[in-house]
Amino acid sequence: MSASTVDLRSDTVTRPSAAMRRAMADAEVGDDAYREDPTVEALERTYAEMVGKEAGLFMPSGTMANQLALRVLARPGTTVLCGRSSHVASFEGGAAGVNSGAQIVTLEDGDGCIAPTDVAWHAQAVAHHWAEPSLVCVENTAMFAGGVPLDPARIAAVADHGLPVHMDGARLFNAVVATGTSAAEYARPCVTVWTALTKGLGAPVGSVLAGPGEVIEEARVQRQRLGGQLRQAGILAAAGLVALGENVDRLADDHARARRLAEAVASRWPGALEPSTVRTNIVRFPHDRPEELFLHLAERGVLAGTVGPGLVRLVTHLDVDDAGIDRACAALAEAP
Ligand SMILES: Cc1ncc(COP(=O)(O)O)c(C=O)c1O
Repeated sequence: MSASTVDLRSDTVTRPSAAMRRAMADAEVGDDAYREDPTVEALERTYAEMVGKEAGLFMPSGTMANQLALRVLARPGTTVLCGRSSHVASFEGGAAGVNSGAQIVTLEDGDGCIAPTDVAWHAQAVAHHWAEPSLVCVENTAMFAGGVPLDPARIAAVADHGLPVHMDGARLFNAVVATGTSAAEYARPCVTVWTALTKGLGAPVGSVLAGPGEVIEEARVQRQRLGGQLRQAGILAAAGLVALGENVDRLADDHARARRLAEAVASRWPGALEPSTVRTNIVRFPHDRPEELFLHLAERGVLAGTVGPGLVRLVTHLDVDDAGIDRACAALAEAP
């Protein structure tokens, strides 16, 4: 792929900056299994403070963070209430059943978040022979819905039914920057929350899960069981510290660029989407022949992806600048 390719497939495609690579090379490290890696500990502390939780745990991926939360918080033989299009329910290879012994129950989430009334219904249905829920998951921003930042009042209402809530905050800071709600306020009704360092924040590897001290200690045990125990991972955590320190505020640029893409889409396919609904870095719209569209875009140096049959996704990130957006908008204007 040429360096000038405008890669809008995902915000996971970024390459570490020079500052990140320097921080990685200079990182002080130790064996994290002995709790002797000061850079990992600094990253875990920093993230936990940002989301207002007692402790944090660094791990290789966001999928592992979701799966660990389920293993720790959901009881085998119970249900986990999740949005139908949430990552934990639909994009993790069916891992939840294997890893937690709990059954996923999917709820309607077309606007990005499950309804508090649906959670209440399932909580009450136990008295009517329905399986017992032991955990609720929310996703912020909601990827499939087009990067929708959640309303904190809705999260609080979802959490108001006596069930613990886990937040997949893969793109939590996109929501923070879009709404002005702090990460800690978003996370307050939730027992656990995690964020990907690898998406809009631009680090090469890793996610941090945060929550109460005893929950995170149990997650540490479960992480080992999943083969996720780390050694001199400070080399990776150093990039994560740069990501959290330098790449949060600039997410606003990604959001403005995504809005420009949305306007180009709406102008080429009137009615395909309403640009004002694009508030973070993801643009999702229907297209009858995505393969044809992708060929046209690729010939003009622009890459796009899908998130479902006939559903195209464009994602902005720190390796796409204004000139790249100009190119993508011009390509969309002539698209089939
Ligand atoms: C909302 C959401 N949750 C979880 C994940 C999983 O993260 P990872 O790819 O690090 O496993 C993703 C990845 O794209 C995601 O978009």
